Amino acid sequence: MVPVITIDGPSGSGKGTVARRLAVRLGFGLLDSGALYRLTALASQNAGLAPQTPEVVDMARRLDCRFDEQGKVFLNEENVSRELRTETIGAVASQIAARPEVRDALLQRQRDFARPPGLVADGRDMGTVVFPEAPAKIFLDASAEVRADRRYKQLIENGFDANFTALVEEIRQRDERDRNRSVAPLRPADDALVVDSSDLSVDEVEATLWRYAQDRLADQG
Ligand code: DC
Repeated sequence: MVPVITIDGPSGSGKGTVARRLAVRLGFGLLDSGALYRLTALASQNAGLAPQTPEVVDMARRLDCRFDEQGKVFLNEENVSRELRTETIGAVASQIAARPEVRDALLQRQRDFARPPGLVADGRDMGTVVFPEAPAKIFLDASAEVRADRRYKQLIENGFDANFTALVEEIRQRDERDRNRSVAPLRPADDALVVDSSDLSVDEVEATLWRYAQDRLADQG
């Protein structure tokens, strides 16, 4: 069985950064499952489809996308890495992700990322739905203010405009939707290690997750 490390949590908890670091350190592949929901959102938007239309499900199923080693994301062979990270696409992705048929359409595609020597899977339901048998499951959390502050700095660094108060509000609304939706709500798996990263540096989070992953993978043999 291919070893999978799942890292779930809300946006801004820092899971993307540590997931990438762990994957590089272990020589494992990386699944950024949020990018698949964002790609579906972007493809739908480009096609002029509203988030609730039936065609969005087909869009998810037929997504022609590719991830390269540097973390660049391609849609129909076009580099969309930057467009994918906008707040607008994030908000549409969250609405689309609340639809069970869309989640179903993306399920097998996510599981196909589990190839030797192993996978680090980053998302909301990696440990609960997509890889319930994973030997190492982590749930990374942080307060809404800390997450808004990180997001704010990230947006400014990347040359986007940002408004802190609006970001806190958006993060709260998205959390609410992600945690309370009926399918695959954002919650830790029963056997997940829960880590609050509010007062931890990225290096500290990485060290904690690294130790846990090493122990769990060793136990698996
Ligand atoms: O992690 P992210 O911000 O790129 O995710 C974009 C949206 O997709 C977010 O609102 C939650 C949703 N998502 C999900 O429902 N399940 C996942 N495994 C990953 C993301």
